[in-house]
Amino acid sequence: MKDEFNFDVLIIGSGGAGLSLALKLANANTRVAVLSKFALTAGSTYYAQGGISAVFDADDSLESHLSDTLNAGAGLCNEEIVKLTVNHGKESIDWLREQGVIFTEEQTISGETKLHLNREGGHSHRRVVHTADATGKAVSLSLIERAQENPNIELFEHHNIIDLITESSTHGKRCIGAYVFNSLLSHVETFAAKVVVLATGGASKAYLYSTNPQSSTGDGMAVAWRAGCRVSNLEFMQFHPTCLYHPAGNSFLISEAVRGEGGRLVLADGSAFMHHFDERGELAPRDIVARAIDHEMKKRGIDCVYLDISHKPASFIREHFPNIYQTCLKFDIDITQQPIPVVPAAHYTCGGVLTDSFARTDIENLYAVGEVACTGLHGANRMASNSLLECLVFAERASEDIKQKLPQVTMPKNLKPWDESKVSDSDEEVVVAHNWNELRHFMWDYVGIVRTDKRLHRAMNRVELLKKEIAEYYAHFRVTSDLLELRNLVIVAELIIRCAQQRKESRGLHYTLDYPELDSTQPAQNTVLNPNGFIASLSK
Ligand code: FAD
Ligand code: SIN
Repeated sequence: MKDEFNFDVLIIGSGGAGLSLALKLANANTRVAVLSKFALTAGSTYYAQGGISAVFDADDSLESHLSDTLNAGAGLCNEEIVKLTVNHGKESIDWLREQGVIFTEEQTISGETKLHLNREGGHSHRRVVHTADATGKAVSLSLIERAQENPNIELFEHHNIIDLITESSTHGKRCIGAYVFNSLLSHVETFAAKVVVLATGGASKAYLYSTNPQSSTGDGMAVAWRAGCRVSNLEFMQFHPTCLYHPAGNSFLISEAVRGEGGRLVLADGSAFMHHFDERGELAPRDIVARAIDHEMKKRGIDCVYLDISHKPASFIREHFPNIYQTCLKFDIDITQQPIPVVPAAHYTCGGVLTDSFARTDIENLYAVGEVACTGLHGANRMASNSLLECLVFAERASEDIKQKLPQVTMPKNLKPWDESKVSDSDEEVVVAHNWNELRHFMWDYVGIVRTDKRLHRAMNRVELLKKEIAEYYAHFRVTSDLLELRNLVIVAELIIRCAQQRKESRGLHYTLDYPELDSTQPAQNTVLNPNGFIASLSK
């Protein structure tokens, strides 16, 4: 059984961020490994619906994309990063088309073909390039196909990072590889690499109800934190307003594009309510819509609200939303005839591993790209469809930097082998399952859409207990995938709570009854946590 590998670049994650970067880097001189915890399609990318924001409409402009993003971000976006990102929208879409992604098109009156653009919350123009309502599947499958064809990329499914391997350097620390659990063989392997990239996605699975697939357990954030990287803005957890409310529905997402095409949010009696909360109604940014729904549900003691698009012609609905139409039909909901029961669910992690504009982290030769990173693009609230764009733009930025760096880095040698001499097989897996459930319940109840100091304090008490129990379990038993995820989730939960406790105001996605207003007496601050004990708030 082979248990040592070496590559020029080791990329942890096979979503939009990881695979784009691999394709941009791999060539005869650069051998790239891409790891996925489960199958290659496991990440959120595959499930993306609405699309990718980029300026294509003749009436739209880069300035408008910039100002909409800044508005949604509630004063905390890094304007230079937003400019950089929106300016690369068109070329990112062109690159995806070169990789074989087919986007939905429409005929103009003059008979020409152009990209069809969706409209979503926070966007003042139609700006979202898409493949019907299953954009992520189209992107993911094309990128996987290109990577499989590339002789310089090696793909490792069911490989779960345990921890990064670092050594001291003149600048502090340098990353030289990772310990990885091969869950098919139940075996730990050592990967040496000149450069390591975290592209592990978000942490929405820290919550009981989430739109995300199983893979989103914040592993990249936790391994980076343990290795010594700062994290930022984790209090800004985005709840998507409209997920299918059905016991077997698994929080299936009902795309914001449904509201973009005229879908109305209504109560059971058919009355609309969004206009009471924001003049933009259903197309207000997500934080506002999710909070409005939460407010109505709690005030009226109801289980869900409804999203109604049935006033549109049935043929239009089936053509624009084939995936949503078919999925709802499986649950006996015909969206051409009746409203869809919906509730909010955890959807996107705006914060993450702090990076610069080239995706570099605090550790030399370690990068973070995609949802795992906090680049400054999203501020206190991500605007719809800016995430896939961020994956593509920062994959390009990281690739430029890594290409320059690689010739100066030598292949790390003699990495310390994984030591299993002091552990045995677990005889109490129930501890892992129990703690998983407990964590996701209290995060939902106490660290959700509406917070208070007391709720955060209660959640932190429980985290402290779980941390001790999990550390003890980890020290005594061989690793399993569930244990690794739980060990990471408890750290990410702690970091989310600590960031939330730092913010004594309500801003964007962080809303607390104890400080219900935005603090305009001082400049907006990012929350930054430092693993070396120092907690800092970084001014913009
Ligand atoms: P992911 O696509 O999540 O990929 C993460 C990868 O890391 C996976 O391969 C996973 O297996 C791997 N991984 C995780 N942990 C480990 C580990 N420990 N070891 C090894 N590998 C690991 N954004 C938009 O811009 N537009 C949309 O329309 C849109 N719709 C969405 C719809 C849904 C239902 C969801 C859930 C999200 C949506 N988003 C959308 C958000 C967007 O899809 C994600 O933010 C983006 O795809 C993240 O890409 P990524 O490459 O960073 O991570
Ligand atoms: C959606 O289609 O509503 C999801 C878009 C996003 O999360 O960016």
